[in-house]
Order: sequence, then structure tokens, then C-alpha cells
Amino acid sequence: MGQKGREIAGPDVGDIVSLLNQAAAFEGLAAYRYLHLSKWAAGLNAPEIAEIFGRLSGEEWGHMSRIMDRVIELGGRPLTRPSEWEGQSFGKYYEPPKNQADLKSMVMDSLASERVAIEFYRDLVRKTEGKDAVTYYLALELLGDEVKDEEYFERLLEGWK
Ligand SMILES: [Fe+2]
Ligand SMILES: [Fe+2]
Repeated sequence: MGQKGREIAGPDVGDIVSLLNQAAAFEGLAAYRYLHLSKWAAGLNAPEIAEIFGRLSGEEWGHMSRIMDRVIELGGRPLTRPSEWEGQSFGKYYEPPKNQADLKSMVMDSLASERVAIEFYRDLVRKTEGKDAVTYYLALELLGDEVKDEEYFERLLEGWK
């Protein structure tokens, strides 16, 4: 672990590690949920939407990976059990609908979840700005990705109106 790197991260390292672990938990849940939806979605528009969920699952998994790297760089320890994710995540888990053809609620819940992520990463950006440049940059990138996801789901819902 880089001593200098940790030094320059500022005095709030403990808080930042705990926020990052909440974020990692959220991303793990999101990755799993999107993967599940990519297999579960059925019906007329399902192939296209399933493909999107599959791609997003990979993206959220990548987010989790980058967040875990940052936790370790800061001298913290990532969560050790997936069973902790729901309790630690900053956002709730939206259980996939029973009805495999209910694509609309899959998309609406995803949109709601992305919006929670946007708020969380916006706050993380504010908290780290001018203090912990590396986490700040990571939070900015994650924020940008989740904004893109929100935009995507919003557009998808436009077509349903
Ligand atoms: Fe994400
Ligand atoms: Fe996302």
C-alpha cells in the first residue's frame, strides 16, 4: 500500500473507506440484479432489453472492482461476504418481478436504482473534492456512468408511453 498515497488522501480516510464499501455493496447487488434480469426477461422486446441488462451487469461489476481497489489502496478492507451487501449497500435491492414479461417494471426499478446511485456519487464527489483526489476522480467517473445509465432507461421508457 502506498504510504504517500494514503497520506495525501486526507484525514477522513476511515469515512471514505466506509462509503466506498457501501458503494461496492451496491454495485455488487446491481451487477447481480442486471445479470438476473438479462436471463429472466421474456417477451416481445426481451432480447434487446436482456442484452442491455447483460452489458450493464458487466459495467456495474467493473465499478465494484474499481471501488474495491480503492478501498485497499486506502488501507481498508473490502467486505468479505456477499451476504453483507444488502445490509451495507447505500441503495435498496429491487427484487426482479415474478412476471418475466414485466419488462416495464424491470426498467422502472432500474431507473430508480440508478438515480439513487447518482445522488450517492454526487455526494461522494462533494465530500472528496479538494481532499482525496484519487477517490474524487473515481467518484466523478462512476457518477458519469450512472448518469448515462439513467438517461438510457429514461429513453427506453419514452417509447412505452
Ligand atoms: Fe455502478
Ligand atoms: Fe449503473
